[in-house]
Amino acid sequence: MDKKWWKESVVYQIYPRSFCDSNGDGIGDLNGITSKMDYLQELGIDVIWLSPVYQSPNADNGYDISDYQAIMEEFGTMEDYDRMLKSAHDHGIRIVMDLVVNHTSDEHEWFIESRKSKDNPKRDYYIWREGKDGHEPNNWGSCFSGSAWKYDEATDMYYLHMFAEKQPDLNWENPVVRDEVFKMMTWWCEKGIDGFRMDVISMISKAEGLPDGKKGEGELYGDYTPYVCNGPHVHEYLQEMNQKVLSRYDLLTVGECAGVTLEEAKKYANSQGTELNMVFQFEHMDLDAGETCKWTDRKVPLPALKEIMNKWQTGLEGCAWNSLYWCNHDQPRMLSRMGNDSDEYRELSAKMLATTLHMMQGTPYVYQGEELGMTNVPFRNMDDIRDIESINAFREMTEAGIFDEETMFRYICYKGRDNARTPVQWDDSENAGFTTGTPWIMVNPNYTKINAKEQVSRPDSVFNYYKKLIALRHTEDVIVYGTFELLMPDDENVFAYTRTLDGTRLFVACNYSQDTVSVEAPADFAGQKAELLISNYAEQGDTPAAVLRPYEAVVWKK
Ligand code: GLC
Ligand code: CA
Repeated sequence: MDKKWWKESVVYQIYPRSFCDSNGDGIGDLNGITSKMDYLQELGIDVIWLSPVYQSPNADNGYDISDYQAIMEEFGTMEDYDRMLKSAHDHGIRIVMDLVVNHTSDEHEWFIESRKSKDNPKRDYYIWREGKDGHEPNNWGSCFSGSAWKYDEATDMYYLHMFAEKQPDLNWENPVVRDEVFKMMTWWCEKGIDGFRMDVISMISKAEGLPDGKKGEGELYGDYTPYVCNGPHVHEYLQEMNQKVLSRYDLLTVGECAGVTLEEAKKYANSQGTELNMVFQFEHMDLDAGETCKWTDRKVPLPALKEIMNKWQTGLEGCAWNSLYWCNHDQPRMLSRMGNDSDEYRELSAKMLATTLHMMQGTPYVYQGEELGMTNVPFRNMDDIRDIESINAFREMTEAGIFDEETMFRYICYKGRDNARTPVQWDDSENAGFTTGTPWIMVNPNYTKINAKEQVSRPDSVFNYYKKLIALRHTEDVIVYGTFELLMPDDENVFAYTRTLDGTRLFVACNYSQDTVSVEAPADFAGQKAELLISNYAEQGDTPAAVLRPYEAVVWKK
């Protein structure tokens, strides 16, 4: 097994807007992050993935960049950035930047030029097409509702935007665009950053001719996926990026790969290292999705989740590398999705979910607040919602009569991205200690009982459990490099597996229900004395028990 620091690391994602506000304007910022470096060091994480901090008009909270080499004014200055980077490094923490290059903001200088005229030198930086009989060039829908095309009067043509209208897609077929991106990446690498998380990188190469997508009955738009995700040249472009930039530095690289299959992931994250270190796949997040995309309140049956995780654990073994995540800034809180956020079971089930994930093979990602057991948010009505995806979808779904307002709002409360974006709960003072001003998005009212201050000092808190899990990864090679074997695949309550490295074995068992359930230990553990590595219940015997209590998680070692 090829040892690498990024395989042995735990990454912590910061969504800067919601992390910590240093100057009372209600918006998290770089100095706020610097002020929490001791906290992150105490947690023990190795790497920060910083969601975008570049200059942006914030149509999509920084995922619409108008200058890649400037800092968003609300977040501070380049000097603040440099200080944060230095402080992170002084604390032994690396910084991974979010790289958003499938699209820019429409306020980026490249696009301002591009839209001016058909013969502007930057015209081909973006994807422009003539309309078809007064309609959009094809039937693709954007990920944020409506058509993926926007008519532009100046030249009587349409531009492609797979996300919001203010996020025009870059034309990666143009070698000048690729060189501009590589030059910008090199500039950040020279500054001393430690890697890139690449936003929707699987979508940068579009199929020749941009064909119409299949459109089911009652559907508003055609399905772009086969023509946009894992497109014809994506691996070529990433190999070029790797040769020209990535391979020249010591980086952690992770590609956000919408629509990625196991076979595709083996290319993106191949162990020869010709593209990226690892990808974010979505199959486990999309299990509850249906005809109306993510907008449902369906619950995921545990066997389906296990099947997917098993497929990725065993499928990439020895040929590529996994990322591991339950949460990020685009997902509701996993604790409210697959765990139990009631007062009685919140902490137990948060620790149980963490155990399942952190004992697998791959690089684990912790999303801010996950280490505190933060939950989904009791939004009161659409006025509390800030996210462009939810706001657009609410309008589209209710106007088309697909859902009534009450139903759609219920789905947004369950699945909307704002669940992850309310401020980190630092203490029980006003606004959870996030800001002295008015926060840009509501604070989850449960901050009085769920907050960092209370948890850091309490030995059995969710925070201290994460701390222990992270520390274990640094001391137990089997957690990083061991092979994975799923047990009890069809069981509806228990997620159990083993990890094996040379003579060392782990037996991990997690109960996803509030009942006491039976569990079968593998033969070499059943009734045998073993070492207890971690558990979310204080009392344990010296051999694996035949039952698991509500939301119990145990890890045994031999
Ligand atoms: C990615 C980001 C998401 C953003 C989208 C468009 O999926 O994670 O937050 O809205 O790309 O940039
Ligand atoms: Ca601020």
